[in-house]
Amino acid sequence: MCGIVGYIGKRNAVTVLLNGLQRLEYRGYDSAGLSIIEDGNLLTFKKQGKVKELIKVLEGKEFKANIGIAHTRWATHGEPSDINAHPHHDNSGNIAIVHNGIIENYASLKQMLISKGYKFVSATDTEVLAVLIGYFYEKVKDLEEAVRTALTEVQGTFGLAVLSTYEPNKIIAARRGSPMIVGLGEEEFIVASDASAIIQYTRQVIYLSDNEMVTLNNENYYTKTIDNIRTNNIVHLVDFDLSKIEKGGFEHFMLKEIFEQPQTIRDACRGRLIVEEGIARLGGLLPVLDKLREVDRIIITGCGTSWHAGLVGEYLIENLCEIPVEVEYASEFRYRNPILRKNDIVIAISQSGETADTLAAVQEAKQKNATVLGIVNVVGSSIARQTDAGVYIHAGPEIGVASTKAFTSQLVVLTLISLLLGRMRNLSKIEGIRIARGIKELPEKVEKILEKADQIKEIAREFKYSRNFLYLGRGYNFPVALEGALKLKEISYIHAEGYPSAEMKHGPIALIDENMPVVFIAPKDEIYDKVISNIEEVRSRKGRVIAIATENDETITRYAERVIYIPDTLPMLTPILTVIPLQLLAYYIAVELGCNVDQPRNLAKSVTVE
Ligand code: AGP
Ligand code: GLU
Repeated sequence: MCGIVGYIGKRNAVTVLLNGLQRLEYRGYDSAGLSIIEDGNLLTFKKQGKVKELIKVLEGKEFKANIGIAHTRWATHGEPSDINAHPHHDNSGNIAIVHNGIIENYASLKQMLISKGYKFVSATDTEVLAVLIGYFYEKVKDLEEAVRTALTEVQGTFGLAVLSTYEPNKIIAARRGSPMIVGLGEEEFIVASDASAIIQYTRQVIYLSDNEMVTLNNENYYTKTIDNIRTNNIVHLVDFDLSKIEKGGFEHFMLKEIFEQPQTIRDACRGRLIVEEGIARLGGLLPVLDKLREVDRIIITGCGTSWHAGLVGEYLIENLCEIPVEVEYASEFRYRNPILRKNDIVIAISQSGETADTLAAVQEAKQKNATVLGIVNVVGSSIARQTDAGVYIHAGPEIGVASTKAFTSQLVVLTLISLLLGRMRNLSKIEGIRIARGIKELPEKVEKILEKADQIKEIAREFKYSRNFLYLGRGYNFPVALEGALKLKEISYIHAEGYPSAEMKHGPIALIDENMPVVFIAPKDEIYDKVISNIEEVRSRKGRVIAIATENDETITRYAERVIYIPDTLPMLTPILTVIPLQLLAYYIAVELGCNVDQPRNLAKSVTVE
């Protein structure tokens, strides 16, 4: 959720902070703010709205501060407003904090502080933490100790950064459940919730662990646990460059990321696919190969788009490896009492690697001694670090809030895992080679679909005023129907539902009339004829059919008002192709409607709260 950036060094802090906020804005964008220390004074500016509103507030002002903290908010407690925006102050006005996460026991702490005469101006949980730090500072007169003590009192999650005139050359940051990364520059440090705010200045970073805090001054830094035990951190090198987090000529990050897919699919396979042998080599799974050999059941968990990828994974693994698979929403998994047996393996899928529900599911599974694997994009993220082993999807930073390239890369990795597991079991070499060839050909096929962007734009124009959409698919493409509907909902605010095509007649068919566009995902496969019958059912109720079909399929033109063709591929690989027109359709409809595609309302890129 939300973005945090803090800077201490020789540069103009306001410039670094604003730059960082713009890079982090995709994480939360209902308000933004910053605090700096200038001539011994704590100056705070904050504004509801996007970072550009904050920039307007700062326009015409000259600053020379070299230290500061900043925040883009995704409100949990208290509506988006100037007052509720971060940073928040303690009662003395000498301490400022920015916070990502939720202080779950804020109400009782607030009550305690009010009874001691402390005052509050905002409705946030974060202000309670700020005031609590101030309360402890009065007792211990040491900023780090005050922060540390306050953190031992709070329940919930935090990534936070603290600044104070009491000790004006210091930033203290800490984490529990929300990411926090420290960039180590030359005589400067940048602390941020995301590497994208750091890499312009340095590539050397340390990742804070849960319940760890860092104290930064101009020259050095040290880390300790919240229980006051010194820690050592390995310095990592962040491996992506600036161009990867810029739009590179595209109007939106989402469009750029959709068009990156031929490359990201290649990257997901690089060094992993051995076509001649029909196998996949996944270095990240080496430590658990024995466990994989013995696996009896796989449970896949994730949220949103990652959960949809998991559903495709279920079809893949069951078909290729004959291993029973269950797919669970991470948010449900964590609150059930999941039964995990000795030879069960849990796979957590997450683009960000920070989704709170998925992380909690990982922890729950580990608690029950299951082997937990991750399919993650963000290197060094919490899920990547807390799983026993895993496979990075290597899709590069995904900035658009609506996930696109991460989904196709997750599918590629799931296919590779299925190939690996299948070949350990009954999958023949010939079949393995056939699948491996199919995977290898995917990037070129995706390129061909992307060439149809203009046709899809036209369809978007035609259907943009529909208030409802139905997406239908079967087998491997049922999850794609869900994903297509989610994309449309997220960025265009049009109500859309995904359904298994044949299930439609058990209810949703009642919705169909001449105003209902129905997107059928109907590639040529063994259930094609059944899908055609489902299309007939829609047509005879005057529904307007848009079909995603395999090239050279002439039959479908008799049934569908609009057809978007995809190149032929193996049925199990079709989701990687069929989803692309749906991403583009959602994108162009949202653009036509004037929606903010990269920062849709109410959403944030990674949901680090429950
Ligand atoms: C996808 O478009 C969504 N923004 C959302 O559903 C997302 O997939 C979900 O929050 C999970 O995120 P993760 O993959 O980073 O864990
Ligand atoms: N819970 C805090 C708030 O509502 C932080 C939210 C965030 O992570 O942006 O202000």
